[in-house]
Amino acid sequence: MRLRPWFYNTLYRFNVAPWDKEVRPQLTELVESGRLTPAEYPAALDLGCGTGAEAVYLARQGFGPVLGVDFSPVAVRRARARASAAGVADRCTFTEADITAGPIPGTRDQYDLICDFGALNDTEGEQRLAVARAIHRLTRPGSAVLVWCFQGDKEQLKGGAKMAPMLAPAEEKELFADAFELEYLPTRPRTLMLLMTRR
Ligand SMILES: C[S@@+](CC[C@H](N)C(=O)[O-])C[C@H]1O[C@@H](n2cnc3c(N)ncnc32)[C@H](O)[C@@H]1O
Repeated sequence: MRLRPWFYNTLYRFNVAPWDKEVRPQLTELVESGRLTPAEYPAALDLGCGTGAEAVYLARQGFGPVLGVDFSPVAVRRARARASAAGVADRCTFTEADITAGPIPGTRDQYDLICDFGALNDTEGEQRLAVARAIHRLTRPGSAVLVWCFQGDKEQLKGGAKMAPMLAPAEEKELFADAFELEYLPTRPRTLMLLMTRR
């Protein structure tokens, strides 16, 4: 199953997207601990940025330019309003695009930091490979990439739960270990939180 923009538009429009609450704590911890600094990782890209909480947080912390990409027009509209309200719209911008559809409009050649909280997770098959290719293409040696996904063995799931896109066990190694060092950050069961560094 591929979750289409209309599904996300509906969740965002009715304010019922369960993840759309606060900045992902894994990101704030890395920034506040000084592991990710704007000096070392200025240019940031948020793939599947939703309503822009993480992108705007990064801009407010001094990262920039920051670009958020999402295929939900409702999310992008809210993200732009969030950046304006926070006074960072000059260095935090948003593009409506499908990250599985080849070159992403408005992107630079390379980013110092890429975040993907839940977008790779929503892809399967060729679309998932396209996101992994984009992450390869848009990074340089030393770039940092944060990826959050559900992960598990679909065979152990029942009924409708089997339809949920999630990474298979160790699938992240097939997608990224050729070019990235993978660090596994603490996260809740059946989820994967990776901090990857491009070799
Ligand atoms: C689970 S939500 C997470 C949103 C945000 N990253 C956060 O952590 O709050 C996944 C987001 O990815 C977006 N998304 C999923 N597939 C996408 C695709 N192929 N291209 C662009 N955005 C996509 C959805 O619209 C949604 O906003």
